[in-house]
Amino acid sequence: MRVVTTITALKAIIRQSKSEGKSIGLVPTMGYLHEGHLALASKAGEENDLVVMSIFVNPTQFGPNEDFESYPRDLARDTKLAESVGVDIIFAPSVEEMYPEDGGITIKAGRQSEILCGASRPGHFDGVLQVVTKLFHLAEPTRAYFGQKDAQQVAIIQTLVRDYNFPLEIRTLPIVREADGLAKSSRNVYLTDSDRAVAPAINEALIVAKEEFLLKGNADAAIKLASRHIETKTSGKIDYIELLSYPDLKTVTEKTEHFLIAAAVYIGKTRLIDNILFSLKGEATC
Ligand code: PAF
Repeated sequence: MRVVTTITALKAIIRQSKSEGKSIGLVPTMGYLHEGHLALASKAGEENDLVVMSIFVNPTQFGPNEDFESYPRDLARDTKLAESVGVDIIFAPSVEEMYPEDGGITIKAGRQSEILCGASRPGHFDGVLQVVTKLFHLAEPTRAYFGQKDAQQVAIIQTLVRDYNFPLEIRTLPIVREADGLAKSSRNVYLTDSDRAVAPAINEALIVAKEEFLLKGNADAAIKLASRHIETKTSGKIDYIELLSYPDLKTVTEKTEHFLIAAAVYIGKTRLIDNILFSLKGEATC
């Protein structure tokens, strides 16, 4: 495995691999890897000749009062983990390497970015699309891998790829969870012991809401039940809980086939997100 930090070095590897007719799987991450990232990398290895994992805490997707500075970083740890699942190339650029000069050109995420996480994190998805666009151009992947934990991010990136004809396939994998249901996240390291003890209530609440919705078909009642579950089990502050169609992220109608129930909740100081994708038959659709 090689760790490269410059665009020039990455492009040389990509050029060589392309000339040998190799397929490329890209796993974009912000590092501090957990089993969710490792599952994406393993899948990328099964489906491609070369696996490139980017590790870059992207400043443009963080708001001024968010955790860019404190976001966990440990490249030595990540390198070992990535190697253990067969990653070939880690691309770990500096901020200056990725954004040498601000030319003032931005990418604006559309309607799908105005709700859920986008409502409480203005500009977040613009930054995600900016870095993902750069990574797609740099790594020229055949396939790019994203976790369904960021379901809204996946939906928006799929729209980018469709609307701007990126020649690649977006592959998604289900959320990887702790034994008690808490979704794996790099931000789980922020949780205190007492936060950690109550955090699974978010997943429980989503399950309760999904079951209620499948039983009675009433989205508002399902959301109310989920909110009550979180309020009873935690002292967390709910940012949002919503039930929408997926991947278009619109109000559900009788025609909706695929559903997303998603939540963001502050447990202590840590904002956690989680979701369930399901169809009327109840199974996960991702
Ligand atoms: O999901 C993430 O970790 C990030 O948003 C991504 C896609 C790596 C872009 O920085």
